[in-house]
Amino acid sequence: MNKIHAYIESFLRFPNPALADMDAQYRTVERAQPEIGLQVGCFLSLLMEALPARHVLEFGACLGYSTLFLGEAVRRSGGRLTSIESDDEFFRITRENVARAGLEDFVNLVHGDASLIIEELPGPFDLILQDSAKPLYARMLEPCIARLRPRGILAADDALFRPMGIRKEMADPVHEYLERVFADPRLTTTILPIGDGLAISVKREGTGE
Ligand SMILES: C[S@@+](CC[C@H](N)C(=O)[O-])C[C@H]1O[C@@H](n2cnc3c(N)ncnc32)[C@H](O)[C@@H]1O
Repeated sequence: MNKIHAYIESFLRFPNPALADMDAQYRTVERAQPEIGLQVGCFLSLLMEALPARHVLEFGACLGYSTLFLGEAVRRSGGRLTSIESDDEFFRITRENVARAGLEDFVNLVHGDASLIIEELPGPFDLILQDSAKPLYARMLEPCIARLRPRGILAADDALFRPMGIRKEMADPVHEYLERVFADPRLTTTILPIGDGLAISVKREGTGE
């Protein structure tokens, strides 16, 4: 981590003590994929407090790092998070971590393919976090926009995979997603250089629920 990011992180705090133990878990559980990280987690929490975000949807929990940030934020806003994870083992571990964090009453964990389950969720949502399989980012864009309320937020993690030199199979679908959201007149989008890059899109007013 460079000095600037270390300096920023020296100020940031986990909103829930259970999060402090999770770094080690991500290093030891085989196949665990990178978590969103402290800066992205804290930024999303801040955004949720400002909106405020009560109806929140997440794709790709892995072991539940992002789930705990979003879950803690909906606990504070009086809302509810729906988090969808397709992997059996990751789903089980996330469920344990959500329970350990005392967030069961605020998090609806769903086991399955987010690209199918989204069709059963009417919305509208205040905030959606996309952090599942990279080819799903562009494929799920239309259903996500349809389920966001006006001025709702669509966040997508790993936006900087291409300049980070991550392999093409992962980076190219994210790049395709970015081209789509930046060109979409229904959205206002930017990328924050925190974690592995966070694309943030706001759904403009007047584009329907
Ligand atoms: C990068 S990890 C998510 C990291 C997580 N957001 C965190 O902060 O720890 C991507 C996750 O998406 C899950 N995933 C992949 N395809 C999926 C799908 N179609 N539906 C739901 N989850 C999926 C993977 O099993 C994996 O756990």
